[in-house]
Amino acid sequence: MTQKQYRAPKGTRDILPGAAERHRNLVQVFQEQAQAYGFGHVMTPIFEHLGVFTRIGESTDIVTKEMYDFEDKSGTQMALRPELTASVVRAFIQNNPQQLPWKVWYEGPQFRYERPQAGRYRQFSQLGVEALGSYDPIIDAEIIALGASFYKAVGLRKVKLLLNSLGDRPSRAKYLTALQSYFNDHRSDLSEQSITTLEKNPLRVLDSKRPQDAGIIEAAPVMADFLEAEPKEHFNTVRECLEKLQIGYEISPRLVRGLDYYGLTTFEYQSEALDSAQNAVGGGGRYDELAEQLGGKPTGGIGFAIGIDRVLLAADSEGVFDTPDLAPDVFVIDVVGGMQAAVIISELASLGISAQRSYDNRSMKAQFRAADRSGASLGVIIGEDELKAGEITVRELASQERIQQRVKRSEMIDELKKRLSK
Ligand code: HAM
Repeated sequence: MTQKQYRAPKGTRDILPGAAERHRNLVQVFQEQAQAYGFGHVMTPIFEHLGVFTRIGESTDIVTKEMYDFEDKSGTQMALRPELTASVVRAFIQNNPQQLPWKVWYEGPQFRYERPQAGRYRQFSQLGVEALGSYDPIIDAEIIALGASFYKAVGLRKVKLLLNSLGDRPSRAKYLTALQSYFNDHRSDLSEQSITTLEKNPLRVLDSKRPQDAGIIEAAPVMADFLEAEPKEHFNTVRECLEKLQIGYEISPRLVRGLDYYGLTTFEYQSEALDSAQNAVGGGGRYDELAEQLGGKPTGGIGFAIGIDRVLLAADSEGVFDTPDLAPDVFVIDVVGGMQAAVIISELASLGISAQRSYDNRSMKAQFRAADRSGASLGVIIGEDELKAGEITVRELASQERIQQRVKRSEMIDELKKRLSK
């Protein structure tokens, strides 16, 4: 009977050796940047009580359609996290850190039941930061600058920063009224989906990418015209600080993000090297009301998240941040049973010299072929002659001449180190 073959679930991928090392290297670049800006690493559970996430946007697809929610064996409603901000705010409230602002960075998988396409997956990885416990607009600018410096460190040159302010609650209320009445006036021309969105949150209609809505959105009132003095000043300070930090940005008056918790500063990093469907390589903003909504004290908060998969797509498109070369330093060819190679490899590994080998008593010829395929620069050969003489043969695999030299087994490490450092 043939057994059923499984494939990874729709919208998920196996990230294989090479690609996985590249992914990890990207995390490493982010970690260095985040640490340099004074952020500590935080790790929260991959699933949380469903209620943690329902607060992030009752009118957003993320919550209404895309949540991987489930009942656990005790009947408790849980969800795989669709994003990390709500989890981090929950962790902040629960752990009550004393030193504020609490500045943390994170990395890991998120889950959204989306329609998969290039750069849009059901399991995808984010890098991000959150700072909780400050309302200072300067921290907004610093965080935006951290994101910009990350893309730069990766080597991306075509990332632009879009900036907007969603105002405070009173400004937003006035704006929402204006927006609602504007869209109501144009209701008959809006797409069906946008009419539904309009009922829940007129702000999110601005996010529609449907061609039918484009013209109406283009002429819609903008938040900037409704900002009260305080949020206006907040926004001006963010802008002034970004200018001081020499971070280029574009004001994007209709930038609303796909989550409901934002107020004041919002921003998005877009790659001009990607198609518009997946060109958002990161985004974030201020969410000063979220802590209270999750049962905590009023706490200013701001952060962003970056899509690792999309950054790597942008890097492919710009030809930067290459996949690391996984070729080992050494390939050990053992034609005396295979155990000698095991001893040599463990010795090399303890010194940080990477090595590969063949198994299953392959012929010398087959082992040489495997050595060539491995991309190792050096071969270590151990045959009957070598074994008897207490020696090994070192062979240059990368050079045309295939220089070969017999050395004492006890001098093997020195010889390899000498040749590897060339
Ligand atoms: P978000 O805009 O939903 O924000 O996601 C941030 C980034 O994650 C996006 O810009 C994109 O690069 C990536 N991303 C989102 N969905 C997918 C997907 N299905 N496949 C691949 N990549 C994806 C948030 O998640 C907020 N928590 C950001 C934040 C942090 N705001 C404040 N603090």
